[in-house]
Amino acid sequence: MRKALVAANWKMNGRRSANEQLISALVSGAEQAGAGVVDIVVCPPAVYLADVRQRLAGSLIELGAQNVSSEKADGAYTGECSAQMFQDAGCSWVLIGHSERRARYGETEEVVAAKLLAALDAGLNPVLCVGETLEQRQAGKLVEVVSSQVVSALSTLSVDALSKVVVAYEPVWAIGTGLTASPDQAQEVHAMIRAVVAEFAGKDSAQKMRILYGGSVNATNAESIFAQPDIDGGLVGGASLKAEEFLAICRASADLAAVG
Ligand code: 13P
Repeated sequence: MRKALVAANWKMNGRRSANEQLISALVSGAEQAGAGVVDIVVCPPAVYLADVRQRLAGSLIELGAQNVSSEKADGAYTGECSAQMFQDAGCSWVLIGHSERRARYGETEEVVAAKLLAALDAGLNPVLCVGETLEQRQAGKLVEVVSSQVVSALSTLSVDALSKVVVAYEPVWAIGTGLTASPDQAQEVHAMIRAVVAEFAGKDSAQKMRILYGGSVNATNAESIFAQPDIDGGLVGGASLKAEEFLAICRASADLAAVG
C-alpha cells in the first residue's frame, strides 16, 4: 500500500498576512482532513519558508521548496539556494522540474537530473514533475516525452534513492487552465510511468513509487482522480491557495485511503 500525498504548490503567490491566515486554517483543519493518513506538504515561495515553518511547528503538515539549485557546493551562484540550505531551513521536500521551470527558465533534462541528485544528496525528498504539452499529446508523442523525462532523471538512481522520489504527472495543458485530464486519461499515463520505472528499476521499486496527478485539481474533481489505482494523491496549484478547498482535497484522498 502506498501512502497518499497531497502537496500544495503556491507558485509565486502569497504575502505574509495572507499566508498567516492560510496556514493557521490549514493547521487547524489538518487532522480532520486526514493528515497522518495522507502526507500533506506545503510549498510556499522561498522567502516565506521561515515564516511558514514557524506556523507549521507541531502540526503534521510538512514543508517543501518549489525549486533548488543544481549546484551542490556553496559558491558564487547569485540568486540561487542550495538543497542543503532548504534542508537547513526546515524543508523535507522539493519540487523538481516543474513544467513552468522547464518552459520559462530553460531547465533541460540534464539540469533537472542534476537538481534531483542535489536534493537527494541533501536528504530532501524530491517531487519530480513530468508532463506533455498539448502539441506533444496531439502529435502522438506523450509516451516518448514523459518516459524520456522519467528515464533521464531517475534511471541511474539506486533503489534506496529511488524510494525517496515522488513523481508528479502534470499535463501542461491542464495546469491553471481548468481543464483536467479525465481520470482514465490520467490513470493511463500513471500506469505507463510505473511501467517505465519497472523497466529500469524493477517491479518492486515501481510498485512502491508514489505518482501524483497535478493540473486543475479541485475539491470537486479530486475524488474521481485519486480513486484511480495508480494515482497516489495530487500536486495542487490554484486550489491550494484556499484553505477550505485544499483541505477538502486532502480529505478526499484520506477518505479513499480509509476505503482501501
Ligand atoms: P493548478 O492546480 O493551478 O492547475 O496547478 C497545477 C500545478 O502546476 C501544480 O504544480
